Amino acid sequence: MNKRIYLDNAATTYVSAEVLNEMMPCFTAFYGNSNSIHSFGRESLAIVDRARDRIAKAINAPKSNNIYFTSGGTEANNWAIKGIAHANKDLGKHIITSSIEHDSIMESMKELEKEGFEITYLPVDEHGVVSLASLLHHIRKDTILISIMSVNNEVGTIQNIKAIAKTAHENNIIFHTDAVQALGAVKIDVQDMEIDVMSISAHKIYGPKGIGALYIRDGIKIDNLIHGGFQEKKKRGGTLNVPAIAGFGKATEIASRDLSVNCQKLRAIKNYFISKLQERIPMIHINTHPHQSVAGIVNVSFELIEGESILMLLDLAGIAVSTGSACTSGALQKSYVLSAMGIPDEIANGSIRFSFPKSISKDDINYVIDELEKVVAKLRAISPLTKANSRSKKNV
Ligand SMILES: Cc1ncc(COP(=O)(O)O)c(C=O)c1O
Repeated sequence: MNKRIYLDNAATTYVSAEVLNEMMPCFTAFYGNSNSIHSFGRESLAIVDRARDRIAKAINAPKSNNIYFTSGGTEANNWAIKGIAHANKDLGKHIITSSIEHDSIMESMKELEKEGFEITYLPVDEHGVVSLASLLHHIRKDTILISIMSVNNEVGTIQNIKAIAKTAHENNIIFHTDAVQALGAVKIDVQDMEIDVMSISAHKIYGPKGIGALYIRDGIKIDNLIHGGFQEKKKRGGTLNVPAIAGFGKATEIASRDLSVNCQKLRAIKNYFISKLQERIPMIHINTHPHQSVAGIVNVSFELIEGESILMLLDLAGIAVSTGSACTSGALQKSYVLSAMGIPDEIANGSIRFSFPKSISKDDINYVIDELEKVVAKLRAISPLTKANSRSKKNV
């Protein structure tokens, strides 16, 4: 194997050198507990404060204190959904979300259903877009929360967050968004977009794993999820992970600084990749929205073959990708995102998500296309579906 190309950046990214440099002194020199009042503690607190400032600035939060650190996007989502539901249940027990949210939202909703909350899962169109008309149609007097992700992790669709938030507020409903895939990929301005509560995470933007944050606008009623210490203004207990927080702050600052350059570069790469795919590989479907999608994600279905097989053969060629469907206990589990987009199972089963790093080159893409062409041809040659397909064509 001579080349290794990582195209699974929507799952996680490497930690950039600048971020790592920011983190290193926190392990050995500035290791005090940021809640301790001695000088060691105060040094760590200053690092935490700087990171909070950087994140607040990047998303245009009114104050740094609107940022609460968590162990990642999953915890932030659990906190937002359960915390808002529990704190506002006297006003109603109806919540609206979409049918393509991340598992951490979906599973939190399921827990609330067990407690007697009613959840509406909005449908999406063939590109994964939530319609405002459908949202309006489902709003009820007892709706207390609308939670719609900013960017979908499987196909990269960008939602009309500003319009959705406006609609929520016109109906006196709290608006939360899972912006884990949006940070570093689209411009986020929580004030202009009227976002009340927002989840973000560091490891999708060249920061460390295991650190995220919840932005909570002043005045939002939200119960605690993690009980314990006095950290995070008594809202989230636990000794702060100072190195990870320092890295998250730096990663967010860089992501915000380089947003337009990265987007421009990745948009060109994405267009090139799609045009080469269409030129070289027949019977494919681009599941990603042609323009309302982030530059770094392309989801493609290859007819007659399975995503898992493509993934494994690409892996042998040194290329890392992911598939929406998960192979558990020998049975193919279909992607609920692609199903919600109305993509038939036989097409969805052959889908692959390619998510690009900011460092990708055209040469990398050429290598991927060459390998992909070979892999797809090889798998189609042995696929029973290919034989069935050509038989049925002969019978026409
Ligand atoms: C859209 C979305 N939300 C939430 C998460 C969870 O974030 P974390 O891995 O930081 O828990 C992810 C991670 O894959 C994601 O893509």
